[in-house]
Amino acid sequence: MTDALIRRAALELATARRVAVLTGAGVSAESGVPTFRAAEGLWENHPIEQVASPQGFNRDPQLVWQFYNARRATVAKVTPNPAHHALVQIEKRFGDNFALITQNVDGLHQQAGSVNVMELHGSLYRTRCTGCRRIEDRGLEPLGEMPECSRCGALLRPDIVWFGEELPQTIWQEAIVAAAQCDVMLVVGTSAVVHPAASLIPMARRCDISDEKSTPATVIEVNLDRTGASDFADIGLYGPAGELLPKVVEAMD
Ligand code: OAD
Repeated sequence: MTDALIRRAALELATARRVAVLTGAGVSAESGVPTFRAAEGLWENHPIEQVASPQGFNRDPQLVWQFYNARRATVAKVTPNPAHHALVQIEKRFGDNFALITQNVDGLHQQAGSVNVMELHGSLYRTRCTGCRRIEDRGLEPLGEMPECSRCGALLRPDIVWFGEELPQTIWQEAIVAAAQCDVMLVVGTSAVVHPAASLIPMARRCDISDEKSTPATVIEVNLDRTGASDFADIGLYGPAGELLPKVVEAMD
């Protein structure tokens, strides 16, 4: 059954003009980066909203930095997995007609070699000053528990989009266009519960925001389990992305 679905997915991709991919934490799971909702949305017994919201940061910035420093340290130790590499292969085939929209902040797509990456939720690599707003790429070097801006001395925060915050508008608009224009959308390793990112899937399916496209995109979901996106999926491939995506790429040839 899965083999037939893999062949169908490969055929849809091979005959597409434009491809958009939406990824979530599951694409990095096999690299060793924990997903968000696996442990019932908890980090060391703190609900994820407590360490990933402006309110949480105002209440206890040290705790929030402990969470992000721990994630930075994890990401510094890991490498891209076959799922990331398979997406690089797909991009090579489509060139400018390919967009990779990610909710991930771990930089593993870029490390694998993906080029057209739209980071909807920011990046673990960057800090943003709460005073002068300067954004800096600090790589994954260890930062203290209350890191300060080297220019104005104010507290730094991760350059991450937290619950209740707006997405970076230019990137969001680009993502909407990519979703609207694609013929195939590949949805990989996301629970599809966080909006507005998850709303890109029905946008691609219904093509209700673009005059340019006459037919809805084919949605292919790759996930361990069914998700909130499954009802929009034409093809569901259920299993580890690091095993399934390389098979899809192989079947495209
Ligand atoms: P979640 O943790 O909500 O979901 C991860 C998804 O990946 C689940 O559906 C898993 O079944 C699936 N999964 C796990 N391992 C997998 C594997 N090896 N292969 C395929 N699928 C696998 O993560 P996201 O959907 O990314 O936002 O969460 C969205 C946002 O919520 C995140 O960007 C983050 C979080 O709050 C911010 O930090 C702003």
